[in-house]
Amino acid sequence: MVYVDRTPKSRELYERAKKHLPGGVSYGLRAIPPYPFYVVKAKGSRLWDVDGNEYIDFWMGHGAVVTGFGYEPVIQAIREQLELGTHFGWCNEWEVRWAEAVTEWFGMDMVRPTNSGTEANMYAVRLARAYTRRVKVGKFEGGWHGGYEGLHAGVNYPYDKPASLDLTYAPPKDLVLLPYNDLDGVRKKVKGENLAALIVEPVMGVAGCIPAEREFLKGLRELADEEGFLLIFDEVITGFRFFRGAQNYFGVRPDLITTGKTVGGQYFPGAGALVGKAEYMELLDHTKHPHFWERAFHGGTFVGNPLTMRAGYTLIKDLLSKGEGFYSKLYGVGNKLKSMLEEVVEKHGIQSYVTGLGSMVGIHFTKEKPINGLTSERTKNVKACEALFKHMLDNGIVYQSPTKPHLFLSIAHSDEDLIKFVNVFEEFLTRNKDLLT
Ligand SMILES: Cc1ncc(COP(=O)(O)O)c(C=O)c1O
Repeated sequence: MVYVDRTPKSRELYERAKKHLPGGVSYGLRAIPPYPFYVVKAKGSRLWDVDGNEYIDFWMGHGAVVTGFGYEPVIQAIREQLELGTHFGWCNEWEVRWAEAVTEWFGMDMVRPTNSGTEANMYAVRLARAYTRRVKVGKFEGGWHGGYEGLHAGVNYPYDKPASLDLTYAPPKDLVLLPYNDLDGVRKKVKGENLAALIVEPVMGVAGCIPAEREFLKGLRELADEEGFLLIFDEVITGFRFFRGAQNYFGVRPDLITTGKTVGGQYFPGAGALVGKAEYMELLDHTKHPHFWERAFHGGTFVGNPLTMRAGYTLIKDLLSKGEGFYSKLYGVGNKLKSMLEEVVEKHGIQSYVTGLGSMVGIHFTKEKPINGLTSERTKNVKACEALFKHMLDNGIVYQSPTKPHLFLSIAHSDEDLIKFVNVFEEFLTRNKDLLT
């Protein structure tokens, strides 16, 4: 394997890592066979590893990065903040500015920062339960909302298996699993469940960049109003991959939005937000609800830290000032790659589909058209996915993981990057016909 020949330092680091990091990695998702490469630097659409190899990156920091790495306005703001302090544990001006920017972005009343997307979802569920005085929550098969156990079910196929060992013994019993893009199916399952909330990714990320149909989201909005539960859009990925979020793109307004990743300036931890209408968010307000048992709790040591707040504020203001122009460029990058891939797939007549919307593109080696999580995963050709990843890695191209050819684009991806991806992909199809038919 070409990769092995040119990554001796990474191999060495991995040998050390295995002793102290379970599986040799900081997050299971980042494990790649035979061992991961260790990144030292990122700029634009490129990464460089400890051995000096360059990669074109289609993972973009778990989808967080929309401008490319090392975006100067954000980096400049952070340089200044490093000198002043990055964690005070007190209120600071940047949290106020950030809150103004985030609420302007989503056209919502209020926001609280969280440490991650997972946390945003955890607090959203709590808030919905507090408001409705109900318990159950609806989520979709294939939907990923982070490791919070209240939502950690039905993520990977087969969906009836526990999503983690601990959950084998204590499954999230108050979850109702629902079929994506199937409004009739959702209506049937939700009826009589007395849901507190329904949480949905407007474009499924981990499940493979599968967009919701506009009518489906509209139907969920109507259902929420009929049944009296809160509609939560998990916009951890989509919040800043679409101008003013997917809620704006689809023209469907949820009650609460959870977001993460990009909301903290795209490169900084402590990046998450729970955003919503005042009617719900005020349940977090100690001045309106003086007794702790009468309000919904939210907090955390690093929430609102000036580093993440300043980075997030700087980026969001920048994106607001660039407006639709930035986003039509970003969608253009995704559309271009998607249509080139579709052309190649059609030309070679293989069992594969390309999905996506805007800057998110998914390749699916599968017999069934991926209209929801279930159909994309049930007949997935895992061997073909793994072989593609290996081939791409040998050619200096990387994306989410060996079994997930799902791509996140940024405006830093050039035509040259896209053409290289498509050419290497086509080379793979030509050489692996037996694997793909
Ligand atoms: C849609 C969605 N929700 C929630 C999360 C969890 O976010 P975090 O990893 O910041 O906890 C993710 C992470 O990838 C995600 O894609």
